[in-house]
Amino acid sequence: MQEITRIKLWSIGGGKGGIGKSIFTLGLGISLSRLGKKVILIDADLGGANLHTLMGVHYPPVTLEDFLLKRVERLEDLIIPTEVEGIGLICGADDVLGAANPTFAQKIRLLKQMEGLDAHFVLLDLGAGTSFNFLDFFNYSPGKIVLTTNQATSLQNAYGFIKSALYRQLSREFSRDNDMLEMLFMMAGKPEYETPRSIRELLAYLKDAFPGEYARVVRVMAYMRVWLVVNMIKTHRDGNCARIIQEVCRDFLSLQLEVLGRVPYDSAVEAAVNNTNPFFLSQKKNKAMAAFQEIAERVLKESRLPRTAWVTEEELMEEKEPQEPAATAEYSSYYFW
Ligand SMILES: Nc1ncnc2c1ncn2[C@@H]1O[C@H](COP(=O)(O)OP(=O)(O)O)[C@@H](O)[C@H]1O
Ligand SMILES: [Mg+2]
Repeated sequence: MQEITRIKLWSIGGGKGGIGKSIFTLGLGISLSRLGKKVILIDADLGGANLHTLMGVHYPPVTLEDFLLKRVERLEDLIIPTEVEGIGLICGADDVLGAANPTFAQKIRLLKQMEGLDAHFVLLDLGAGTSFNFLDFFNYSPGKIVLTTNQATSLQNAYGFIKSALYRQLSREFSRDNDMLEMLFMMAGKPEYETPRSIRELLAYLKDAFPGEYARVVRVMAYMRVWLVVNMIKTHRDGNCARIIQEVCRDFLSLQLEVLGRVPYDSAVEAAVNNTNPFFLSQKKNKAMAAFQEIAERVLKESRLPRTAWVTEEELMEEKEPQEPAATAEYSSYYFW
């Protein structure tokens, strides 16, 4: 493959089920393929794999399970061609990864193989929840997309997913440092008296007393770049819910999330699902597809940028001006952050 894609592996997570992660993965894949890119979709939802159904494949001939149980030697032998030109699919299996309980190193090996597949883009459709397997897949992927809808529970789970991913990444970084691990554990749970209550407080605490640890936290933070997609938007106001997640992520996690795109609610999507016909999704000039196409162009642009630190130490330590809270009346009852 001639062209170099710098960010090739993208994970689509979000914590909650039924919010459109699989639809989004498929829509983004179709759109990238329309831009002339070779795409492989991997159904990493190892408990509720159904990406193949959305693509009209009723009985997957091989799945990730065959690879994980060593019935198939090479990951590329799992790729099944689909009716959508330019898109290959690796089907998911039941929770064999959970049952196999792979070590962190084994997971990284699997991810490296996924990233090494012969394609311009590899998209990982993650399942619901915040199991370590999903968080490790997400953290390893340089392209990190979190999906949400404007529903309170979806916003809550999206934030929970991002928070869990960040704390998982920090815990990996300090896996041999019991003091740091204990502090991170307390921070991620219910912060008690004297425990830092945010990443900024943690950095302030570490800065002078523990410069080595401080530098490592800064480095982890600098490369944690998360994009947000709001799905099933019905009114213009629905799209504003992204601001809520952006604000809590900024205040508590020191993460500056960017909105990658907003996808309207579109009855054609439901019809495509019920017809298990991806062409229905791709051929109709529908609203959702137009949004996926726009997002694909953005993904293409972002994927070409070199991977450099995303935020600087100064930005992380910056005192943030208190801003007018985004929470409108309907969101003001949110107390779950
Ligand atoms: N943009 C959209 N417009 C209308 N319906 C949607 C949209 N995105 C998802 N859906 C509906 O939501 C259902 C769940 O989507 P799915 O991708 O399977 O969720 P997840 O993978 O997050 O569990 C789909 O079957 C579809 O009917
Ligand atoms: Mg799904």
